[in-house]
Amino acid sequence: MKKIAFMNQKGGVGKTTTAVNIGSILANEHGKRVLLVDLDPQGNLSDHVGIDPNETERSVYNILIDQLNPKEVMQKHHNLDILPANLDLSAAEVELVNMMSRELRLKNALDLIAGDYDYVLLDCPPSLGLLTISGLAFADEVVVPMQAEYLALRGLSQLVHTVELVSGHLNKDLNVSGVIFCMFDNRTLLAKGVREEVEHFFPGKVYAGGVRKNIRLAEAPSHGLPVNLYDPRCPGTEDYRELVLEFLSRHDDEVPEGYIAPQIKAFSPETVSYSAVNTEAGSGSTASNPPPEIRPVWEDSDT
Ligand SMILES: Nc1ncnc2c1ncn2[C@@H]1O[C@H](COP(=O)(O)OP(=O)(O)O)[C@@H](O)[C@H]1O
Ligand SMILES: [Mg+2]
Repeated sequence: MKKIAFMNQKGGVGKTTTAVNIGSILANEHGKRVLLVDLDPQGNLSDHVGIDPNETERSVYNILIDQLNPKEVMQKHHNLDILPANLDLSAAEVELVNMMSRELRLKNALDLIAGDYDYVLLDCPPSLGLLTISGLAFADEVVVPMQAEYLALRGLSQLVHTVELVSGHLNKDLNVSGVIFCMFDNRTLLAKGVREEVEHFFPGKVYAGGVRKNIRLAEAPSHGLPVNLYDPRCPGTEDYRELVLEFLSRHDDEVPEGYIAPQIKAFSPETVSYSAVNTEAGSGSTASNPPPEIRPVWEDSDT
């Protein structure tokens, strides 16, 4: 069983689209048992698989706050098990603040059912708050969806720092295992430059496959369908299918006979450049001058 958090504190980079479509292709085309967990109070993942977050009474909120068994919250759609979100979840972050072992409540609940699945995929909200931390406390690894644009690199140090804080305090094996370029446009020089910078920052982690911009990917959610069920032959489906093969091979899972994993670029550590990935423009921070300390969210209440 593998537990993967799709995380990037930036919104609109493809976290939800990637979690849903990788999940659906794993379940519907590779026969994997997949659980999707919607940790974003906006409920975009829930919407994408056909659950109206405004109508759904039970959500991850009830798991976190009322300690319901996840099975009491779960819905099944398109061969996927879903733990949906709704707006209640935005209150959870506030309500959790004074609760005991708040960062571990989600983990403790999901541990009850995780063994039933091959893959548990968590769709994180666009923040580094308690919901994201709760997801990271449970996950074994983080996959970072990002857009190949200059601003996408800002905040990467902060993301890595958060992952390190969680691995230092709550979940020692957590690491960033992959980076996926979503809405990629191979034709622009900028996209190539950004990709190379990220390959230097995360040596060996960037998926060789990327997801091209494709309108079908943006249409599918309004039909409540993962893209492979909405349009099985569009470029968006093709790209996610290819990505899933790479995903399976990176997780030492079965791939179809004849599949050869793409060559992953690896750079030696000496060549790693941090110049483009600082949190603040012009902060002048470098590898030897790291960005300022970020306090773990679980220390907030001590102040
Ligand atoms: N490759 C793509 N091509 C076109 N539109 C996309 C693509 N990937 C995502 N989108 C659309 O971009 C928007 C943001 O994507 P989303 O997955 O919701 O990002 P996040 O979860 O990081 O906020 C959504 O409307 C989604 O449908
Ligand atoms: Mg999202």
